Amino acid sequence: MSPTALADKQNAGAHGSVEFTKSNLIYFSSVSENTKRFVDKLEMEAARIPIFATEPQLISTVPYVLLIPTYGGERGKHSIVPQIMKFLRYDENRANLRGVIGAGNTNFGEYYCIAAKRIAQKCNVPVLYTFELMGTSEDVLNVKEGLETFWTPASQNRQER
Ligand SMILES: Cc1cc2nc3c(=O)[nH]c(=O)nc-3n(C[C@H](O)[C@H](O)[C@H](O)COP(=O)(O)O)c2cc1C
Repeated sequence: MSPTALADKQNAGAHGSVEFTKSNLIYFSSVSENTKRFVDKLEMEAARIPIFATEPQLISTVPYVLLIPTYGGERGKHSIVPQIMKFLRYDENRANLRGVIGAGNTNFGEYYCIAAKRIAQKCNVPVLYTFELMGTSEDVLNVKEGLETFWTPASQNRQER
């Protein structure tokens, strides 16, 4: 375990329980669970960022793609929910992030999927895909195939160059 993971573990231990995950797909979904419904249709192993403070905090131990909805405030302010902010405060969760997939609603115009776009920009990783609400069957297929290609060694080598 790296020193930062150890520090995170000690930190997290001081504030509550933690759960380590080897999942290549990590997502957030609120109680309305649109995003969860989409992730279920992917039929892939995925870890969910906790909604409630009483749940163990999730810490990634391998490279992963983050799939998240936007909950925008006024003019896109506070569009990243506190649970995702908390998750990204862990060094390991930022270090292992390789790409972001955004869920949203085009009714929000220029703020469509703004949370995913902002995280990608801040963490210097690509926005891999965006979709509305629980996604169409075409979105499910695109993300399924896209992630399979994304995790092939050839594709990973190209990104490291
Ligand atoms: C209060 C509220 C604010 C939202 N703000 C945005 C927004 O700024 N941009 C966007 O693309 N979608 C926005 N959405 C749409 C959600 O991202 C969308 O409903 C998503 O599927 C919710 O996922 P979940 O049910 O898994 O939490 C908003 C939805 C709600 C209820």
